[in-house]
Amino acid sequence: MKIGVLNSGGDCPGLNAVINGVVGAADKLGWEVYGFIDGFEGLLPEGGDYLKLTPDDTIGIGKLGGTILGTTNKGHFAAKVGVGDVAKIPEEIMSKARENMKLLGVEALVVIGGDGSLTTALQMNQEGFNVVGVPKTIDNDLQATAMSFGFDSAVTTVVDGLDRLQTTGQSHKRVMVLEVMGRHAGWIALWGGIGGGAHVILLPEIEFDLENVAEHIKRREEAGQRSTLVVVAEGARVGGGELITKGDGASEVTLGGVGEVVAHHLEAMTGKDTRSCVLGHLQRGGSPTAIDRILGARFGVKAVKMIESGEYGRMVSYQAYHVDSVPIEEAVHQLRLVNPTGEMVDTARALGICMGDR
Ligand code: F6P
Repeated sequence: MKIGVLNSGGDCPGLNAVINGVVGAADKLGWEVYGFIDGFEGLLPEGGDYLKLTPDDTIGIGKLGGTILGTTNKGHFAAKVGVGDVAKIPEEIMSKARENMKLLGVEALVVIGGDGSLTTALQMNQEGFNVVGVPKTIDNDLQATAMSFGFDSAVTTVVDGLDRLQTTGQSHKRVMVLEVMGRHAGWIALWGGIGGGAHVILLPEIEFDLENVAEHIKRREEAGQRSTLVVVAEGARVGGGELITKGDGASEVTLGGVGEVVAHHLEAMTGKDTRSCVLGHLQRGGSPTAIDRILGARFGVKAVKMIESGEYGRMVSYQAYHVDSVPIEEAVHQLRLVNPTGEMVDTARALGICMGDR
């Protein structure tokens, strides 16, 4: 049997671990693996654009960041436009992909992607392609999996960033604001903030008032604290207002700038010297943590086992220490957001962290 693997959408640490898992498990079954270049786009050129992958090519790549296959979040297969809007992939694009896979003899496809790419995978499955999905979301916001690879690496980068901002903030008696990824869900900010000892965490899911944050900073100063660390998710809305964006991206608006806005207001409100820093793509780059390497490998192996047992139209899912699968349809329709009254937020509050709402 010949199978294909591709990753689509934004990259994140752990993608190569998944590819290695797919190649290793397929090789054990005597199958061949075609790795398509730049996501679904690799299915389109005459004869396909791919690398034939054997364990010799992939053993050891699990520790590398990025993806050996390249990726894109634009192109001909966009099936999800904004939140909840689905576009139909043109028939000529589907036919070309079908033709190339037939020509190569590739019978099934592992699609590693977030809700956008999995929406594409679902449409392909509905049109007769044998597809299994592997969840990829650095924001860790797919409802159908409790954890996705890349998230732990991003949180580790946030913690490291906060540790660094802490020391310079202390030296200069400053408020240091760190803007982190998290478009709809504030998991990176919440986990990173708790792990990195933030004093304030601002999330898309909790409406906050910067007056509350300013009061918190002043109280800390009165208590003798020299500096305050603030983490803000890129999708947080100041005063419940608009998202702060940098323009239109390939498939969604490009977020960015909320950290600077928060810093500007806090400086005016507290009179304290304030600086902001955007962690940006540092969270998506670099080597994966051990957790992400292992999770990625498990996801890749599971995807091949799903093909072996004909579980098409399903996505690998991590639930309570166990890797299982769910229908892709379930995965693309629901985002997993931070519960404002849930255990993680409770933990943050118990640690004295201000969430900006009181
Ligand atoms: O959706 C994942 C994500 O990392 C977001 O947190 C961020 O807004 C976006 O991707 C960045 O995308 P790009 O790489 O296109 O700038």
